[in-house]
Amino acid sequence: MNSPLQNTALKNRVETLLAQMTLDQKVGQMTQPERMACTPEDVKNYHLGSVLSGGGSCPGDNRPAAWVDMNDAYWQASMEADENHLAIPLIYGVDAIHGHSNVLGATVFPHNIGLGAANDPELMRRIAQATAREILATGVDWTFAPTIAVARNNHWGRTYESYSEDPALVASYAAPFVQGLQADYGEQSVVACVKHWVGDGGTSNGIDQGETTLSEEELRAIHIKPYPPAIEAGVLTVMASFNSWNGDKCHGHKFLLTDVLKNELGFDGYIISDWDGIDYLSEDYFDAVSMGVNAGIDMFMVSEDWRDFIDHIKTHVNNGTISMSRIDDAVRRILAVKFASGLFEKPRPASRALSNDASFGGDEHREIAREAVRKSLVLLKNDGKTLPLDSASKILVAGKNAHNRGHQCGGFTVAWQGVTDNELIEGGTSIWEGIKAVASNAVLSEDGLGLDSKAGDHDVAIVVIGERPYAEGMGDVRTGNNVIVEAGSQIKGLMKILEPYGNTLELAQSHPEDLQTIINLANLGIPVVTVLVSGRPLVVTQELDASDSFVAAWLPGSEGQGVADVLFGDSDFHGKLSFSWPKDANPNVNLGDANYEAVFPYGFGMNYSA
Ligand code: BGC
Repeated sequence: MNSPLQNTALKNRVETLLAQMTLDQKVGQMTQPERMACTPEDVKNYHLGSVLSGGGSCPGDNRPAAWVDMNDAYWQASMEADENHLAIPLIYGVDAIHGHSNVLGATVFPHNIGLGAANDPELMRRIAQATAREILATGVDWTFAPTIAVARNNHWGRTYESYSEDPALVASYAAPFVQGLQADYGEQSVVACVKHWVGDGGTSNGIDQGETTLSEEELRAIHIKPYPPAIEAGVLTVMASFNSWNGDKCHGHKFLLTDVLKNELGFDGYIISDWDGIDYLSEDYFDAVSMGVNAGIDMFMVSEDWRDFIDHIKTHVNNGTISMSRIDDAVRRILAVKFASGLFEKPRPASRALSNDASFGGDEHREIAREAVRKSLVLLKNDGKTLPLDSASKILVAGKNAHNRGHQCGGFTVAWQGVTDNELIEGGTSIWEGIKAVASNAVLSEDGLGLDSKAGDHDVAIVVIGERPYAEGMGDVRTGNNVIVEAGSQIKGLMKILEPYGNTLELAQSHPEDLQTIINLANLGIPVVTVLVSGRPLVVTQELDASDSFVAAWLPGSEGQGVADVLFGDSDFHGKLSFSWPKDANPNVNLGDANYEAVFPYGFGMNYSA
């Protein structure tokens, strides 16, 4: 195994430091509050080991300089040494899950579902390296990425965070992505975190944070499979999952956390809980704390209630309900990661070489993102060879997602649930802007629906349709009575809406305006090229029938230009479906099913040469 933690000099440093620590200092290292709920003074007074930004939680004007200043203040507090406090660098964590996408002006890469269609592990390494540089530009040390969930039900609102329904494809991406982030553990490195351990993509009905009912054999074959390559590649942290397995919550699952992940698979970094994830272990928070610690979680994402958490864990140690050896094991792991990732050697964030680096949101990174967009597009239909388009033709561009950088980026972009217009996605191009840049006779439909068009005015129409942004359970498609979403990352007071995305995967029902736009133009006799922006395969039978050509663009991110690159034939199509495309409302079609039936099977994707 390639673990940077199995090194005698490093182990000696850990033991020397551990021997000097009080219980307060040890418990502090295990505690990770949200930035809105703790100050630099708290970091010093409570010896906090880590702070995070929940989705959309950002300092000041949300530009790199404000992030560096914030991190500098936390770091300095963590490094002040006196008789009560040891200098142990804080590790700051963010959700840079498709680029450092919470920060204004960042390069936003396609969400994982599109990267899966690209089927290009080497590209993953370059995306991870570029993302690491943008993270380092903000003085941050750690990202809760990559997600290596194997999504098996399109109802799940996090389907787009998954590379594929096929565990083998997800497994092939795990190592290059982790290595791209962690690099040589030096100046260019960011600590990676694979998530969510385990079975997050396998819940019944695709309910986020729900119940995964599977035999141990199936759990291993599908959901555990991507983890060994990540561990082999030296991943330093793993996040526990909100879901339960056969009725027991992963956050309290000693067999999964300690026996399988740590002992059997040999994971020697630390396990972080998900957002207040231990709260669901018991109605009594005091009990929940010992259940989480004793099951094997090492660091706790306890957004606001971190003072209670600290009190409870200390009481448990004094009562003997949590052993000192379990605390020491957790703290050893945390310190080992901090030593191995070079945090003790790094200067304060304000003085780091890459802080405020000009590569943040720069051309080099955007070029990689644009390549990823080109490679992720999947051509599902091309009647009459409508594509590729001639850049000299008179093109009408319509549809609600044609000129909306927020929609094409999806969730976890600037805000937890994403944004719904162009303004907050600084830099990059909308799909329309990308088309306009190469086709000077292209026009944007003023009403978006194509009603303002006339037969004969246009040679061809490009209609960009699909979903609006969502994240986590609020992206779930749920049916039945119990449709209340228990969401994860909400910062009290900011997020109130707790409703799922809808109750059907049929686009003609959830977004009838899309089919209508296609029909408006087809009725005028204009050939229609439809581009679908979505976080999952949707039932689009009617939209497909009404279109001449049909492209699945997933959630391409900030570089809409990559769509034009392929529509006009500067590049050929390359993407192949990493998710089976369902025929009907059955959300559960997966490669290897006994009665496999898909309208487009796994691996399908046309191109210009075939
Ligand atoms: C999500 C995690 C995320 C965390 C921190 C949780 O709600 O499940 O994937 O890393 O919030 O924002």
